[in-house]
Amino acid sequence: MPKIGVIGSGVVGESLANGFLKHGYDVCRGTREPKKLEDWKKGAGAKASVGTFEEAAKFGELVVLAVKGSAAESAVRLAGVANLAGKPVIDATNPIADAPPVNGVLKYFTNLDESLLERLQKLAPEAHFVKAFSCVGSTLMVNPDFAGTRPSMFICGNDSGAKSKVKEIVDRFGFDTEDMGGAEAARAIEPLAILWCIPGLTKNDWSPHALKMLKK
Ligand SMILES: NC(=O)c1ccc[n+]([C@@H]2O[C@H](COP(=O)([O-])OP(=O)(O)OC[C@H]3O[C@@H](n4cnc5c(N)ncnc54)[C@H](OP(=O)(O)O)[C@@H]3O)[C@@H](O)[C@H]2O)c1
Repeated sequence: MPKIGVIGSGVVGESLANGFLKHGYDVCRGTREPKKLEDWKKGAGAKASVGTFEEAAKFGELVVLAVKGSAAESAVRLAGVANLAGKPVIDATNPIADAPPVNGVLKYFTNLDESLLERLQKLAPEAHFVKAFSCVGSTLMVNPDFAGTRPSMFICGNDSGAKSKVKEIVDRFGFDTEDMGGAEAARAIEPLAILWCIPGLTKNDWSPHALKMLKK
């Protein structure tokens, strides 16, 4: 099992880190202020550790990026581009702009010709970014209970070896992987989070929901 570095002190970093620990992985969570994750570390057991973004990136044989979208490029620089080289990097970020949503529709700072994942891939060309976990709420990222139905997890990225490692994790976390292809497919996957958030933002309905691709 690869050692996991989780870059992110928010709810997504916590949910995924706890998921990896539950499934027996060693996890180092990174934040710019390691002190703020001390309580989490105390409760998370012997396989959990906390460090800076750089320390988490160095620790991880597979790295998860779970930071504010507008800070993602800066977080990759702080983690150290060289520390991500050759590694699968799960990119759970969404490029949410600072402007408020319009009728429940989030605004993105990217457009349909360039996703955040592609920007990150350009910034760290030797890292193997794989978009995943971006289009489901943080409380549903690990083995969500939909009465036996496994939701779809849409992934994409340029490196097929990295995608098969991520597929194993997605599988273990209770989702069916739908591989949408290369990095450009993130232009379609990232906006799924806009759709996912509409019931919550318009009707305060955050009840469990996830996407499923039906097939015949
Ligand atoms: N919330 C959800 O349910 C959900 C679901 C799917 C995807 N996502 C996406 O997942 C990502 C993480 O979401 P979240 O809600 O867990 O947390 P968040 O509040 O969006 O991000 C928190 C993280 O961003 C880092 N950060 C903030 N400003 C920064 C800066 N200027 N430079 C470097 N790092 C900075 C923080 O660093 P420090 O640790 O140093 O404070 C922290 O680790 C987002 O891109 C979000 O769109 C969220």
